[in-house]
Amino acid sequence: MPSIQVPYFAFRDYPAGINQQVEEALLGALRSQQYILGEEVRAFENEFAAYVQAGIAIGVGNGYDALVVALKAAGIGAGDEVIVPTNTFIATVNAVVQVGAIPVLAEPDRYTCNLTAIEASEHITPRTKAIIPVHLYGQACEMTGFLRLAEQHNLTIIEDFAQAQGASYKGRPVGSFGHISPTSFYPTKNLGALGDGGAVVTSDPELAAYAHMYHNYGQQQKYHNQLIGINSRLDTLQAAALRVKLQHLDALNGERQRLAQVYLTALQGIGDLVMPVTAPDCTHVYHIFNIRTKQRDALQLYLTEQGIQTAIHYPVPVHLQVAYTYLGYEKGSFPVAEELADTSLSLPLFPGMTEAEQEAVVTCIHTFFERHG
Ligand SMILES: Cc1ncc(COP(=O)(O)O)c(C=O)c1O
Repeated sequence: MPSIQVPYFAFRDYPAGINQQVEEALLGALRSQQYILGEEVRAFENEFAAYVQAGIAIGVGNGYDALVVALKAAGIGAGDEVIVPTNTFIATVNAVVQVGAIPVLAEPDRYTCNLTAIEASEHITPRTKAIIPVHLYGQACEMTGFLRLAEQHNLTIIEDFAQAQGASYKGRPVGSFGHISPTSFYPTKNLGALGDGGAVVTSDPELAAYAHMYHNYGQQQKYHNQLIGINSRLDTLQAAALRVKLQHLDALNGERQRLAQVYLTALQGIGDLVMPVTAPDCTHVYHIFNIRTKQRDALQLYLTEQGIQTAIHYPVPVHLQVAYTYLGYEKGSFPVAEELADTSLSLPLFPGMTEAEQEAVVTCIHTFFERHG
């Protein structure tokens, strides 16, 4: 048993001093006494929109609400079909159902684990209104094909970039390709708040105007309601923390990429391990470092026994979730996604992870495969 315990994720002071900067920002926001919306939220929205190279950002309560707001703004509702990858976090699909639409699930690419335009195109029907490419694990989807499909079939592209803030495709940040793009600031995300948070970004003023009203009770002006909206606002204290973290996002992602490179080099060619593959023109910001092996369960158990925490993203694809039985899919409907669910293992990777921690992970994986072939 190695002498150190390795958490799957931990909050560390990386880059050094960030914790103090966040604490000072929180204190400033606290003392401002402006707890709902106001200057801090507006400033973060402007800075985030500039970072993502989208015209407008609207802060909301969490990533799930961001998806709902995006779908509502795009006019998606009862009877509309929305194409979604089956290997995503459940929120992406739940949001489609929340607005009354029908999720049409699709198979991911076996190498990048992302949805492709070619796969999505096979599911387009006259009722299709939108496609939600999810930049899974932190890797940008190849967006050109989706934009072409949108033009050909008059579809809305909603990029779910909850896992990929700072990733890019052909040099442009994810979130800036879709008509409207939701993201999450769940604390462990690459850009993480200190609680729940999320945003939608868009360069379309009409979609932005709708989202702006919808997330705040449908009001354009206090007590004047244009539509039946919800209450989902980015918290002022979260906005203050996010403003600090946004300044460091490229450094945080750079550190994730450096750690990923260490794994890629040290674990290459061991046993039947399949390493993450990054497609040309895409960048990967390694929200999740996902490896694959037929011996996943045994490897995970061994690592746990050695004091190394891992995770599985995701053990059950959406089409096999009990909650989605009503959609009528069955085992075998999406063999690639099912294989990913059976073989994927997420290794510890977070900014501030030490060399000793990463070495312990690498050593244990080597030892496992020496014993298990
Ligand atoms: C791809 C994806 N979409 C949506 C969400 C939902 O975000 P939240 O947890 O902030 O509601 C998450 C993560 O939590 C996610 O990973």
